[in-house]
Amino acid sequence: MTLRGRAPRRGRALRDLRIIRDGALLVRGDRIAALGTRRRVESLRGARRAEKLNLGGRVVLPGFVDSHTHLVFPASRAAEYEQRIAGATYEKIARSGGGIRSTVESLRRATPRALHDRAAAHLREFAAHGTTTIEAKSGYGLDWKSELKILTIVAELHQEQPLDVTATFLGAHVLPDEFQRRPEAYVDLLTRAWIPTVATAGLAEFCDVFCDRGAFTVGQSRRILSAGRACGLVPRIHAEQLAHTGAAKLAIEMQAASADHLDKSDRDDIRALALSNVVCTMLPGCSFHLGLRRYAPARELIEAGAIVALATDFNPGTSPTVSMPMILSLACTQMRMTPAEAISAATINAAYSLRQHDRVGSIEVGKYADLAAFDVADHREIPYYFGVNLCSLTMKRGAIIHHKIP
Ligand code: NIG
Ligand code: FE
Repeated sequence: MTLRGRAPRRGRALRDLRIIRDGALLVRGDRIAALGTRRRVESLRGARRAEKLNLGGRVVLPGFVDSHTHLVFPASRAAEYEQRIAGATYEKIARSGGGIRSTVESLRRATPRALHDRAAAHLREFAAHGTTTIEAKSGYGLDWKSELKILTIVAELHQEQPLDVTATFLGAHVLPDEFQRRPEAYVDLLTRAWIPTVATAGLAEFCDVFCDRGAFTVGQSRRILSAGRACGLVPRIHAEQLAHTGAAKLAIEMQAASADHLDKSDRDDIRALALSNVVCTMLPGCSFHLGLRRYAPARELIEAGAIVALATDFNPGTSPTVSMPMILSLACTQMRMTPAEAISAATINAAYSLRQHDRVGSIEVGKYADLAAFDVADHREIPYYFGVNLCSLTMKRGAIIHHKIP
């Protein structure tokens, strides 16, 4: 499945995976040098002395692009999982001192080494499930020292590879305890000090806000994202997850790269998003893990012509999974996306939302050799089998970073 051609994809184009049967590709260095049927590629001059990797009988696709993760955190919140099963809600737990703030408390105490090693282990698991590019947000520090600790680790992980890791500054995740009664003072600190410093130091490419009930208002989010954009950080936004707030409309106003979650978006939002270039990133792992019935309106968004993407939202509170194949399964059964639509959403459209569609997200000459091979008979079987990892090989920039092939 090459997914080559126009990016991003909307509507019916999401179903066109541009499959080459009995295909092959030639990798030179970190890039794809040629692509086509096996017969054609094998007869190329440049292929004669190439080392051969036989993926016969498998399905090969571009490595997944996971455009929304909270990669760096110190520990799980399995106790809250148990509390929710017993009937407590996510928001109730957050109000009583659990939730994001409890992760903040423990992250502040954690050593950079421990955080780094844990995140690196997660990255190996991402790779083992076919992901080759991820976005990683700060937002569990919420004081300058701890936010910097997270962004430094993200930069190190990107340097070390095997995955490309793009940083997003999420200083506006929730109000830190110290500012509980002074929200505007915290927004001032973000907009006047932290955001400009993060941008100048090149510590992030994007700026995000959790704009929702119990987090930041639309007005505060507008100030924060505008400050980010003024110094070159492209806006992204957590929108319409817990309550309908108007965050999706703000995403359009701000020309955000992406509006994420959207579970509570209404018909008006859908119509407006469809007319914009804002990517609608859906995160079905959250509804699944929180045991909620409601999912983002994928069918309505696709039929209206919106650019849709899928991501894990990997985090300890609402979606502790690194598995894009599992996200595809949820997208198909719970949101009625077709397997092909889900695959487009998890590759080329997600790459567009990270502004990396010129390098990753499809298999095309000149792009990075970022690939995932699955032990399945056709693309539908990737979401069809769930709870099992059928990714047998992952390649990042021409290097094999995971394989189970004998
Ligand atoms: O995307 N919504 C805000 N942030 C995360 C949850 C983080 C947490 O609970 O630790 C999310 O779902
Ligand atoms: Fe999130």
